[in-house]
Amino acid sequence: RNVSYFHETDSTNTQAKKLGEEGAPAGTLAVADRQNAGKGRRGRSWESPPGRDIYMSLLLRPDIRPSDAPMLTLVMAQSVAEALREQTGIDARIKWPNDIVAGGKKLCGILTEMSAEIDYINYVVIGVGINVNQPSFPEEIADRATSLMLEAGRTFLRAPLIAAVMERFEENCSLFLGTRDLSGIQAAYNDLLVNVGEKVRVLEPGHEYSALSSGINKKGELLVQKEDGTTEAVFAGEVSVR
Ligand code: BTN
Repeated sequence: RNVSYFHETDSTNTQAKKLGEEGAPAGTLAVADRQNAGKGRRGRSWESPPGRDIYMSLLLRPDIRPSDAPMLTLVMAQSVAEALREQTGIDARIKWPNDIVAGGKKLCGILTEMSAEIDYINYVVIGVGINVNQPSFPEEIADRATSLMLEAGRTFLRAPLIAAVMERFEENCSLFLGTRDLSGIQAAYNDLLVNVGEKVRVLEPGHEYSALSSGINKKGELLVQKEDGTTEAVFAGEVSVR
């Protein structure tokens, strides 16, 4: 595999996009020990101290429609959850669409970025940040964030975790590319999903409502039963649940 390692960089997503512009092959992985401008979703920043966590971004050039790219993020979420479960024994689960949590607290975030025309993808970058050996979190986020170390009570080497995530992703992604939907991983994803059968708040731009979650469909949309009895498929690209 083509790996670009950075002791320190702005953001591995930014670096992977640069590699994408320069024509680097699909499968190239940008990894950093530290980011000084780590990016989260919705314009937030991602704290990226040196020496203990995983910051990595995978460059892909999938032959799919740009509108199908959000599903790749769910494929990665499934892969990270599986890899962490198998490598650490922690009960890592998925919070739709793409957070990995343990005991309700966030272990990992995923940020996907894409360069595309209307009907053609130039490249996709899937950025993964995993809290590995953080011994504690700032007070403001301590109730929402956790690390593998805090959950397991021991430290972990990062390289084997990265290898395990890539291995799981290769398998899950080939299932995805075979059908261009999530039918191959849907059941496994729903098994690891939190809040199934429970009430969630759906936060859509401009409106917010309570509904009963029943897991994803093969497009990766979250199926929810609203209080008026109707079922809605919530699109992963533009909403979150809590
Ligand atoms: C989120 O908000 O949950 C997404 C966080 C994604 C963080 C990772 S760390 C590696 C990659 N580079 C970035 O700048 N962001 C992603």
